[in-house]
Amino acid sequence: MFTILEKRDLADKICEYVFEAPLVAKKARPGQFVILRLDEEGERIPITLADTDPKTGRIKIVVQAIGTTTNRLHCFEKGDAITDIIGPLGTPTHLDGFKKAICVGGGVGIACIHPIAKELKAMGVQVTSIIGSRCKDLVFFEDEMRAASHELIVTTDDGSYGKKGLVTGPLAELLQGVDKADVVFSVGPVIMMREVAKATKPYEVKTYVSLNPIMVDGTGMCGACRVSVGGVTKFGCVDGPDFDGHQVDFDLLMKRLAMFKEMEQQSLGLWQKEGCKCHK
Ligand code: NAD
Ligand code: FES
Repeated sequence: MFTILEKRDLADKICEYVFEAPLVAKKARPGQFVILRLDEEGERIPITLADTDPKTGRIKIVVQAIGTTTNRLHCFEKGDAITDIIGPLGTPTHLDGFKKAICVGGGVGIACIHPIAKELKAMGVQVTSIIGSRCKDLVFFEDEMRAASHELIVTTDDGSYGKKGLVTGPLAELLQGVDKADVVFSVGPVIMMREVAKATKPYEVKTYVSLNPIMVDGTGMCGACRVSVGGVTKFGCVDGPDFDGHQVDFDLLMKRLAMFKEMEQQSLGLWQKEGCKCHK
C-alpha cells in the first residue's frame, strides 16, 4: 500500500499528491512515469512523475480528474492509501549534449516538463520555459518552473494572466531570435505537441515530445500503446514516452486516443450516478 503523505489543490480538478515510494524515488529519471492502481480491481493509469527526492524517498505526481479512476483518486485525502505504484517506467528523457533548451508545458503537461527543466538547469544548460493554461485559475507550478528555469514565460489562452495566447506564440518569437535553442522539449495536449513540432521544423531544432498513448501494462507486453514514429511502429511505454516530434504521426495518436472515449464517458457516468464509494 502507498499512503498519500500530502495532497494539494493546484487548480480546478488538478491535485498534487506526494507518496512515499523510496525505490521509485531512488531510480527515477526525468521523463519517466509510474502506473497506479487504486485498489485490487482498479484500472491501471500511467502518470508522469512531477518530482522525486531520493533522499526522502518521496515522489510527486499531478493528476487532473478527467476519467473514472482520476475522479476516484480526487476523492482520496492525505492519509488514505492506494494499492500499487509501479515504476519508474519508460525510457528517461535524453538530456545530454545541449547548451540551450526550451521547455514547453501545456495544461497538466506542465507537471511533466518540470523534472526535465530542473535537471537541465542542474546540468548547466540554459533553460527557457513556456507554460500555458487556458486561464489564470488553471495556472499551476509557476514557482516550481521559475526555480527550474533561467527564464519563464507564462501564457493563458484568454489573457487573464501572463501573455495572451497559446504556448506556440512565445515559442515562435524565441525561434526567430538570433541565439536559438538547440533543443525543445514539449509535454501537453497532443494538438499542442503537434503545433510545437510544426513550429520548430523549419528551424531544424531537435524537438522531443512526450506521448501519452493508451497504456495497459506499461512494460512492452500488450501493444496498446502503439505509436507510429518515422513510419515505424513503436511502443510508447518502453521506446518512449519521448519521441522525435518531427517524426510522430500525431493524427494516428489522436485517433487511437479517441477509441475508447464513449466507454470512458459511460464508465464515468455510471460512477457519478452510483455516487463515490471509493476507498471508504
Ligand atoms: P489544455 O487544453 O488546457 O491546453 C493547455 C495549453 O496547451 C493551452 O493553454 C495552450 O497554450 C496549449 N495548446 C492547446 N491547444 C493548442 C494548439 N492547438 N496549438 C498550440 N498550443 C495549444 O490542456 P489540458 O486540458 O490540461 O489537457 C492536457 C492534456 O495533456 C490531456 O489531454 C492529457 O492527456 C495530456 N497530457 C499529456 C501528458 C504527456 O505525457 N504527453 C502528460 C500530462 C497530460
Ligand atoms: Fe502495453 Fe505499452 S502499455 S506495451
